[in-house]
Amino acid sequence: MKFFVDTADVADIREVAEVGLLDGVTTNPSLIMKSGRDFIEVVTEICSIVDGPVSAEVTALDSEGMIREGVKLAALADNVVVKLPLTWDGLKACKALVAEGIETNVTLCFSANQGLLAAKAGATYISPFIGRLDDLGVDGMELIHDLRTVYDNYGFETEILAASIRSAAHVQECALAGADVATVPPPVLKSLAKHKLTDAGLEAFMKDWEKTGQTI
Ligand code: G3P
Repeated sequence: MKFFVDTADVADIREVAEVGLLDGVTTNPSLIMKSGRDFIEVVTEICSIVDGPVSAEVTALDSEGMIREGVKLAALADNVVVKLPLTWDGLKACKALVAEGIETNVTLCFSANQGLLAAKAGATYISPFIGRLDDLGVDGMELIHDLRTVYDNYGFETEILAASIRSAAHVQECALAGADVATVPPPVLKSLAKHKLTDAGLEAFMKDWEKTGQTI
């Protein structure tokens, strides 16, 4: 499973990229607002830090506007992926941008039927939102399983990019469900390395090592 970080915070992106574990980045208008930075400027900077795909979302609601914005965003760097909402206009724009050789990420997916439409429109990625379904008392992970089944049934190449991930448990369940990518907030990504027994074991090893009086 590939790891993307779900943020427009350049310092956080650099920190994860330095470890060599970063496969890509996703942003959305809320994350751009949170960064406090100019959209075009920050996307261009992220693309220069990361070799992998960087999702940048259109804000037009009509297909013509989405296509116009998508072409503009795709021209910023080779690794820009144009993010489009899962609406009728978004699907139309997806089909048109894909025909131009532009990669797309269809976002705000909450059902397998929506995911089926995005795959038929040729989306490079589909972004099912797990946490927001959980918020409604619906098991968001079911959607990842359903999309995996639907895509495998018909050989769709659209990658399942699990989004709205809120916990380490979400990440583990996504991997078990066969998601292609998980886009994860940086603190959740860092938390994956943590385990109480790792900390306790390391502390005990260090105490014993100190008693040997040796150095490496
Ligand atoms: O990638 C989508 C993600 O940013 C949404 O997450 O936690 O706002 O539902 P959340």
